[in-house]
Parts: sequence; structure tokens; C-alpha cells
Amino acid sequence: MAGNRTFTMIKPDAVSAGNVGAIIKMIQEAGFSIKAMKMTKMSAERAGQFYEVHKERPFYNDLCEYMSSGAIVPMILEKDNAVEDFRTLIGATNPKEAAEGTIRALFAESIEANAIHGSDSDDNAEIEGKFFFAKTEEF
Ligand code: GTP
Ligand code: MG
Repeated sequence: MAGNRTFTMIKPDAVSAGNVGAIIKMIQEAGFSIKAMKMTKMSAERAGQFYEVHKERPFYNDLCEYMSSGAIVPMILEKDNAVEDFRTLIGATNPKEAAEGTIRALFAESIEANAIHGSDSDDNAEIEGKFFFAKTEEF
């Protein structure tokens, strides 16, 4: 059975463009409740750990630089079928391919600066949530 939690992070481009409020509104209106949230910043090294699965990809260094370029807003979210429903809400990685009305279609600047992250499995949602939050910070 699909789990009911996922992890997300509003990325530096969307934070610096002032889109945090609009994105959180869309997330809540889609039926997700926020179980943990903060505004913070990653070093390039920490961004590299977060995206370690991509370390052999040609865009890895750029990705780490971009993800550490400004503030981010990580969150743990709860809803039935959370991982899949959240990936639907954010849309495709490349905003040019993202469905109309999705968060990336509305707010992403490019395939790299694409506004928001969403976990791709229940296991990764748990790992990524723990990367940012202590159990005592979750509701
Ligand atoms: P996340 O939710 O952030 O994990 O995105 P995703 O699951 O839709 O895509 P993926 O995990 O494949 O890639 C992780 C991140 O790397 C993307 O969200 C982009 O920020 C960046 N990225 C992916 N593909 C490319 C690419 O071809 N070029 C560049 N410059 N960045 C990319
Ligand atoms: Mg991914």
C-alpha cells in the first residue's frame, strides 16, 4: 500500500522570486497537510549529499552549486498516496514538458531551476525527511 507521507523542498529560484507563499497555498489546496517545515540553506557539499544519486550525471556540479545558491524551504507533507499525488502536482522535471497548472509549469525557470523537489518513492521520502528534520520537529 502506498504511504501517506512525502518530502518536498522549495528550491532557491522559487524562494528568491517570492513564490513560497503561492506554492504553499497550492500544496495545501491540493489536500496535503504540512507536518514539518523550515527555511534554511545548504552548502554545496550538503546539496551534493542530497542529490548523491546523480553524482555521475553531467549536470551534478551545476546542480549542487544551484541548490546551495540561496534559501530553500524543506517540508514533510501528509496525504493519501502522497508520493505519487505530489509528483502529479509538481509536474515534469523540465517545465517545458510540465502539464498546465502544475507547480513547475507555473513557477519553474528551467530544467535545473525548476522551483520544487518531490520525493520519488516512499523510501526516499523517509530518507529525505530525516536529512532535514529530527523526529521531534515533525507533527
Ligand atoms: P527532483 O524532484 O528535484 O528530484 O527532480 P526530478 O525527480 O523531477 O528530477 P531528477 O531527480 O531526475 O533530477 C534532479 C534535479 O536535477 C532536477 O529537479 C533538476 O533540478 C536537475 N536536473 C535534472 N535533469 C537536468 C538536466 O538535464 N540538466 C540540468 N542542468 N539539471 C537537471
Ligand atoms: Mg528526483
